[in-house]
Amino acid sequence: MKVIVTGGAGYIGSHTVIELVNAGYEAVIFDDLSNSSASMISRIESITKKEIPFCKVDLSQSSECNDAFNDHKDASAVIHFAAFKSVPESVQYPSKYYKNNIGSLINITNCMDEFQIPLLVFSSSCTVYGDAQELPVKETSPMLPPNSPYGHSKQLGEYFLKNLSSVNSSQIKSIALRYFNPIGAHESGDIGELPNGIPNNLMPYITQTAAGVRQELSVYGDDYDTPDGTAIRDYIHVVDLAVAHVKALVYMRSDKSNQDYEIFNVGAGKGSSVMEVILSFERVSGISLNYKIAPRRDGDISSIYAESTHTKKTLDWSEQYDLDDMTRSAWIWEKKLRDL
Ligand code: UFG
Repeated sequence: MKVIVTGGAGYIGSHTVIELVNAGYEAVIFDDLSNSSASMISRIESITKKEIPFCKVDLSQSSECNDAFNDHKDASAVIHFAAFKSVPESVQYPSKYYKNNIGSLINITNCMDEFQIPLLVFSSSCTVYGDAQELPVKETSPMLPPNSPYGHSKQLGEYFLKNLSSVNSSQIKSIALRYFNPIGAHESGDIGELPNGIPNNLMPYITQTAAGVRQELSVYGDDYDTPDGTAIRDYIHVVDLAVAHVKALVYMRSDKSNQDYEIFNVGAGKGSSVMEVILSFERVSGISLNYKIAPRRDGDISSIYAESTHTKKTLDWSEQYDLDDMTRSAWIWEKKLRDL
């Protein structure tokens, strides 16, 4: 079974391509390489020992998108990662975010209908819950006003797929996976997160500080209403998240699935504070991290973590890795990347 993976050269996409190949699927990568590099594809190939067809394509351009799908119209499913994902950048350049994150989704679903590709897994985010008041968040928790154009683009993407599922003109069956905070790297240390420029996210900032690429980590706020005062997130190993995509495809093709649009949280269901992540990193690396307490970051919420029982039961998925596994694998990747 052939699966098109848009954004397959990116952080979560590359790990998912590996899990797909491990599970016996044939994967094809569509990527514009705007936030990744062609070397990632050779790294995936060396891990999987398979040649992975790659198509460089800007999916927000409908004719380019159409040509790429035309070359792979025998595919049976699409996993759609290709999107912009920086919260602060989306505040600065909202049109860039709406054009790519919504425009590409429309182009892709048009092509899926044209070429009769029936199944779609969509990358959504726990950001759709906004500043949730009741924790843990469930799939049925309300979508509160988004904190950024990025968050809004994910909410719109979900509404769009839900609406599409109820019209006769489209035959697409889709699942939105709401990711919590993916961190960590493949056990080989050959693929991992490689942000362009200064990292926005906590884990790459920690590993780059430990590697000497950054001087000092800022802990954004120690006055939140949490046990140690630092903000809480639901960190999930990127390999566990990748496996959830494979499980979603298996589920969609099974008798158990009888809806055209469904939503699943993908988190470990456990909150960890920024300080707990730092302590875990220090424990597994033996390095004392250079950090300081800084003011809260604009737009950050205090705490969010998932209720993931529905996902575990329905998709027959569960996380295999804990926080120490995540920080250890992120550090192995960073060290290998920097030749340390
Ligand atoms: N943090 C720091 N210092 C840093 C970076 C982050 O203290 O240098 C803190 C943040 O303030 C936050 C926590 O670490 O409390 C996690 O921050 P990340 O930037 O790693 O992740 P976010 O939870 O802010 O954002 C992530 C994804 C977004 C997604 C969001 C949904 O990056 O794409 O989860 O909640 F929208």
